[in-house]
Amino acid sequence: MSEHKNPYPGENNTGHFWDDEQDVRELNNRPPRWYMQAMMVGVVAIVIYSFYYPSIPWFGDHYKGAAGWTQITEMDESVAELKAYREKRFAATEQAIADSSLEDIVRDDELRTYSIKTARTLFADNCAACHGAAGQGNAGFPVLADDDWLFGGSLAKIEQTIINGRKGNMPARMLGITDAEAAKLATFLIETGKGAQGNPNPADKVLYLTKGCIACHGPTMKGNQMLGSANLSDSIYRFKAEDQHASVVRTILHGVNNPIDPLTQDAVMPAFGHSSVIDAVQLKKLVVYVHQLGGGVPVGPAPKKAVAVLKNLKYTPVVAKSDLFADVIATAEANYKKNLDQKAAWRDTAKIIKNAKKSKDVALATAANTQAVNALRQASIAASASPSF
Ligand code: HEC
Ligand code: HEC
Repeated sequence: MSEHKNPYPGENNTGHFWDDEQDVRELNNRPPRWYMQAMMVGVVAIVIYSFYYPSIPWFGDHYKGAAGWTQITEMDESVAELKAYREKRFAATEQAIADSSLEDIVRDDELRTYSIKTARTLFADNCAACHGAAGQGNAGFPVLADDDWLFGGSLAKIEQTIINGRKGNMPARMLGITDAEAAKLATFLIETGKGAQGNPNPADKVLYLTKGCIACHGPTMKGNQMLGSANLSDSIYRFKAEDQHASVVRTILHGVNNPIDPLTQDAVMPAFGHSSVIDAVQLKKLVVYVHQLGGGVPVGPAPKKAVAVLKNLKYTPVVAKSDLFADVIATAEANYKKNLDQKAAWRDTAKIIKNAKKSKDVALATAANTQAVNALRQASIAASASPSF
């Protein structure tokens, strides 16, 4: 450090050198003009930004900004925009659902898929608390995603269930059944439900037959969908419990929805059709959704419509250029000529044309043309029918 001599005199450096060769050094130049200008623009932008948007913190609150902007209002606006977009984008589909029968919705790929997708949230909001997020059921609430139905899995039955609600009824202690008999009967039912693996005591079947169970659950124990009485011949329990035997005994002794018995099994499906919770279109979507969850009674193909033939007319009629008399009468004459060519003319078409020409009446000319077009349709159908002669 003996030098103290600047090897670059007049260079406007600060005299600091960073290496032994003294060529890496610190200069003292002004920053470039563009850089300074950009910085000034930045400073101005900060002032405008702080004025326009919420900024300076101030004793537990902050300056709210001239624009009134908040993240919440921005989100609300985006949500409203999205909602408006959806309403516009899907208005036609929503209308089609409103206009279609449940069967037609299920048959139509687009309407069915759209219903299922949009019903998912409806189901989560209104049904999942009881029936489980995927319709898998909960203790006391039936599974909707299988083909074991209390009240029926056709579209019409599911619709009725959701509109009117359901409330199955089973009396308590049928025909004075005793606790011991109830326990035996429960074992018999559970063993029967196991099918080939089960080991029911045939002697106990007498209880089933003589204690009135048969009236509602039927001779084959399969239940009755008119009553919503459960199928007792399978191992699917509508009142599923850890101790299934105890639960079945409870059902037998205390019944279902028995208003005077505090131990009765509760089973009330609320009615959604008479509330404002879901509208008519949402109801249809939910019916289709539950039907498609699994186990819905299949929907057959649409009935064939007879109009198909008319679409492919063999002899196409001429169409009038306008409603003016001259055009209509010319069209009627052209179609009538086609009738004659096909030997399909109706007897009085010629007469009507003649009268129309005399009176210059557009209505008459139109009537003549309609008749000629109809005659052509007949000729077309006759020609496409088989066998042809
Ligand atoms: C408060 C609980 C609850 C809510 C909410 C509820 N359900 Fe139910 N649901 C039930 C009960 C309980 C039953 C059985 C009624 C019975 O056994 O008598 C049932 C039965 C049904 C059935 C008949 C099942 C069968 O096997 O025949 C369908 C379908 C159904 N619910 C659909 C729905 C739909 C769709 C929603 C939503 C819009 C819904 N439920 C909301 C409790 C509920
Ligand atoms: C008046 C008609 C009626 C009679 C009689 C009746 N039940 Fe029921 N039972 C029902 C109905 C309805 C249900 C289903 C209730 C519901 O889910 O809403 C049911 C449900 C049950 C269940 C529950 C099944 C499950 O899946 O969890 C059992 C078990 C049962 N009944 C056994 C019997 C036995 C045993 C008898 C004779 C002692 C009997 N029932 C008599 C109507 C009847």
